[in-house]
Amino acid sequence: MYAAITLCVFMCLTATTHADHHQPCHAPNMTGFMSVISLKGDVKAFGAFTYDSMGKKLRFRSNESYPTNTSLGLDLLMLFDEGIFYEIDSKNQSCEKKTLQCTQHPLDIPDDATFMSTVNSGSPSIEGEGIKVSVWRGAMADMKGHYCMSVTMGCLPVYTMYFHESSSFIVSLTEVEIEIKDPDLLAVPSCCLAQPLEETPEGTVNSFLNEFM
Ligand SMILES: *[C@@H]1O[C@H](CO)[C@@H](O)[C@H](O)[C@H]1NC(C)=O
Ligand SMILES: *[C@@H]1O[C@H](CO)[C@@H](O)[C@H](O)[C@H]1NC(C)=O
Ligand SMILES: *[C@@H]1O[C@H](CO)[C@@H](O)[C@H](O)[C@H]1NC(C)=O
Ligand SMILES: *[C@@H]1O[C@H](CO)[C@@H](O)[C@H](O)[C@H]1NC(C)=O
Repeated sequence: MYAAITLCVFMCLTATTHADHHQPCHAPNMTGFMSVISLKGDVKAFGAFTYDSMGKKLRFRSNESYPTNTSLGLDLLMLFDEGIFYEIDSKNQSCEKKTLQCTQHPLDIPDDATFMSTVNSGSPSIEGEGIKVSVWRGAMADMKGHYCMSVTMGCLPVYTMYFHESSSFIVSLTEVEIEIKDPDLLAVPSCCLAQPLEETPEGTVNSFLNEFM
């Protein structure tokens, strides 16, 4: 993994790209754990996620059993196709419904990403001791940064680094299974159903990534 990160940083900082005809793949349905760590070392969030790749829905709940004083208490349901998301507080059954201004997120390679290369982390020749990933890069939606994403040959995201002028962080996915274990997590919770859509203040951008910036 570290070799791949180093390579990723190196490739992302150099402007050369391979002339290529690669098309970004799309991840399947997934359940697993996601961690978001700033490049300064702060753990921003760690918790379980559920992703519907066709329906373009993502639930992410940060796990308060792993408290660090920099982590955010988050429970997000993002409906990318509808362009809205919910911030859920299950403790007091409250919910906020907001508009998404940007749908970029770390579980899917954006269609306009550029293929960089294929790398073997660990050993390519010893069974079970290596992982082969393809590395993609592109601009963040506001053009004030870029990302570098690596996915397995089956298109499971391993990690994505976001280098942004306001903050840089790495998102990594672990214990991924290619099914939706609990579909109820992708249904809008009852406390959210009657919620009016909140107005987005002028100058605010709502997106999955902005939750960590
Ligand atoms: C992914 O999950 C959705 C929602 O549960 C389901 O409708 C869809 O068929 C699943 N896709 C695959 C390829 O299993
Ligand atoms: C939080 O982590 C604990 C310990 O790993 C686990 O038992 C629990 O189900 C997790 N909760 C959530 C909401 O992910
Ligand atoms: C977080 O913890 C570190 C070390 O324990 C401490 O130096 C820092 O002030 C804490 N930050 C906050 C916001 O409490
Ligand atoms: C629910 O709790 C959160 C913080 O714990 C608070 O910000 C929010 O205002 C509360 N909502 C209601 C409706 O009490």
